[in-house]
Amino acid sequence: MRVAVVGAGVIGLSIAWRCAQRGMTVTVHDPEPTRAAAHVAAGMLAPVTELHYGEEALLALNLESARRWPSFAAELAEASGVDPGYLRCGTLTVARDLDDIAAIDALRTYQDELGLEVERLTSRELRRREPALATGVRGGLFVADDHQVESRRLLRALRSGVTRSGGQLVSSAPRSTEELDADVVVVAAGWCSPDLVPGLPVRPVKGQILRVAVTPTAVLPTHVLRGLDVYLAPRHGEVVIGATVEEVGPDTTVTAGAVADLLRAAWELVPGIAEAELVETAAGLRPGTPDNAPIIGAVDHRVVVATGHYRNGVLLAPVTADAVAELVDTGSVPHEVVPFGADRFAKEEAP
Ligand code: GLY
Repeated sequence: MRVAVVGAGVIGLSIAWRCAQRGMTVTVHDPEPTRAAAHVAAGMLAPVTELHYGEEALLALNLESARRWPSFAAELAEASGVDPGYLRCGTLTVARDLDDIAAIDALRTYQDELGLEVERLTSRELRRREPALATGVRGGLFVADDHQVESRRLLRALRSGVTRSGGQLVSSAPRSTEELDADVVVVAAGWCSPDLVPGLPVRPVKGQILRVAVTPTAVLPTHVLRGLDVYLAPRHGEVVIGATVEEVGPDTTVTAGAVADLLRAAWELVPGIAEAELVETAAGLRPGTPDNAPIIGAVDHRVVVATGHYRNGVLLAPVTADAVAELVDTGSVPHEVVPFGADRFAKEEAP
């Protein structure tokens, strides 16, 4: 079976790796892999912390993928010779004031109703667990099973995994699926996917992030921290601070206002940020869909799509890759992804 994957982001590469492992002849096409959303992503693997009201179907998929992450990371490290940087650190949601407390208590009630494991912490317990936090924080939540991965290392590991499994990475920009000489074409081109599958309801949603690096005087956190309007993901001497969510089309300008807002919000939670070195500002484009959930499935006898992962691309890579490899190999749709086919939007529009 010859498989062409369009898109060398975390979704395309994960699918390519899994397909190559099954003995398929795989070619990944991408003219500019560093444009992948995962290149900018913080790499949070936090389905419980990032729960949104009314998104129970997506939660189930997120939890299933989180469950697969430890073995995915271990297998990838072994196959690629590159440690993808999977870090079990737990995630703290932090309230700065009484409004934040009300919001996190409401979130916790919803998490409880869904049977999710969450621990409510007082201000003192929170600061004991994470001494880098500001003295004024009012309390929070701890999710022991929400972790993170270093998304750029992950991309490197996946590229190596694909080539070591016999796959090929080529710098090309196919304009249509017809021009690709393959039995199956997998479109995993993020927000650009509608260029290849017209009508696919996927749009770019801009996210700006910063990276700061530790200095001798900067006291930085060791857990992933989620404030109400900012998150901080610490790893390897750096902290990623994110992210804006902007409906401005395919624009990747880094704006002074966004940098100021993110730095202020991060500094209010962790005062040590003021002493850290600002090493990077960046903007990426998430592939958003009308219901914030991915689109995974066949659109015709030869073309499969795996896109629209929005804020969960890194988290959903393992389950998406397993499902698409199974679909391409056997023709059957694994039950986890049945609710996420492209046809769900057509159904909604029917009278
Ligand atoms: N999942 C984090 C983000 O999209 O910013």
